[in-house]
Amino acid sequence: MTNNDVPVRDSFSGKVGVIAAAAGSAVGLGNIWRFPYVAGENGGGAFLLIYLGFIFAIGFPVMLAELTIGRRAQRNALGSFKKLAPGKPWYLIGLMGIVAAFMILAFYSTIAGWTLEYLVQAFTNGFSGQDAMQLKESFEVFQSGSFRPLLWQLVFMFLTAFIIYRGVKRGIEKYTKILMPVLVFLIIIICIRSLTLDGAGEGLEFLFKPDFSKITWPVILDALGQAAFSLSIGMGTLITYGSYIKKDTNLPTTALQVTVADTSIAILAGVMIFPAVFAFNIDPAEGFGLVFIVLPNIFEQMAGGYFFAIIFFTLLSIAALTSTVSVLEVVVAYFSEELNMSRRKATIIAASAITLVGVFATLSFGPLSDALILGKTVFGWFDYLSANILLPLGAIFIVLFVGWYLGKKAVADEITNQGELKGRLLNVFLVIVKFIAPIAITLVFIYGLGLIG
Ligand code: PHE
Repeated sequence: MTNNDVPVRDSFSGKVGVIAAAAGSAVGLGNIWRFPYVAGENGGGAFLLIYLGFIFAIGFPVMLAELTIGRRAQRNALGSFKKLAPGKPWYLIGLMGIVAAFMILAFYSTIAGWTLEYLVQAFTNGFSGQDAMQLKESFEVFQSGSFRPLLWQLVFMFLTAFIIYRGVKRGIEKYTKILMPVLVFLIIIICIRSLTLDGAGEGLEFLFKPDFSKITWPVILDALGQAAFSLSIGMGTLITYGSYIKKDTNLPTTALQVTVADTSIAILAGVMIFPAVFAFNIDPAEGFGLVFIVLPNIFEQMAGGYFFAIIFFTLLSIAALTSTVSVLEVVVAYFSEELNMSRRKATIIAASAITLVGVFATLSFGPLSDALILGKTVFGWFDYLSANILLPLGAIFIVLFVGWYLGKKAVADEITNQGELKGRLLNVFLVIVKFIAPIAITLVFIYGLGLIG
């Protein structure tokens, strides 16, 4: 893909392709698996409110900042900073992003593997005749094993690598355009079933009625981490994707559409899960396994549940795949452009290394479940460190870079497409990236981590 210094760059075919790929990255297990479990652990309603605040006040501007950097530089997450700030240490942001990508993919592929196991179970009618307690038990037996979870993780990493190897345009862009709408449609149908279960109201109350007594600084940090994770910001995914965006694409509109789509799906996932959690007497703070226990319960209670289960887990795996692809692309684009590797070699090396690290995440639920470090497993640490530490930290530096280093002219050029678009909110954006976002994230960090307090 590269010839000497000037890479021949792939690009998205147009506006719809960009949205599909960026929304494909944002919408994933973060919305359907992570959001419900984190919201469940943090008391529901008040968490949701804070999460929404972060999404729009901070997440959206950070996303726009990343797209701006990427399209301006036309390089990978690290190379972009090198190109825009030659000889300056800003490229370290890119390096941190690569580390975050490793960690995220290592634990994400564990859960993505679980979705494949559940897809197979759906096919073989594995949920049939089991009540809530039994479904919970089966889940626990499965995840605490070694062979099957590892096998599925491997399969999933292989699929991810395969798509990346083929290039983003002909792979992911083509399918996400069709599959994302189907996923939304299906979630809505499952929501309806969940809402008509006896005792559904309690779940809605949990999700939508804020109880501010639950709010502490660590909860606020969790909300920030979840917002960053769900939007795929803070580690260069959107810098990388931004570098494939053509000059005439409207970046603010793209960022807004992706943000709204991602957030809507997270809320829908909450509406799908929480009524059922209460109807089936499951603890909302159940943790990592929440959706895998609750969803099969819902399918058991639905007319046609067998088919819905199959379609749902198929789409969930695909949603996960369009996200894992975007994470691997960060590393592969870096390896191939900065370290001058062929795309093929970069893909094989990156995917193998990540899979190796991922084994420890997967085994955290079985043989390594007692190997706790400060009360968390390896998986727990990858999840926590990437979402709550690395992504917010990355986000701080990204906005600082755009606000203070890149300069108003360059930012205005990207946001208005060289003056073609109005860019009415340019000044608001600049105030957010210069002051509001970095200060807010820093404060949440300091208090959330208990550095002062
Ligand atoms: N946003 C993805 C999801 O919600 C996960 C992700 C995080 C993807 C960071 C890329 C970068 O599932």
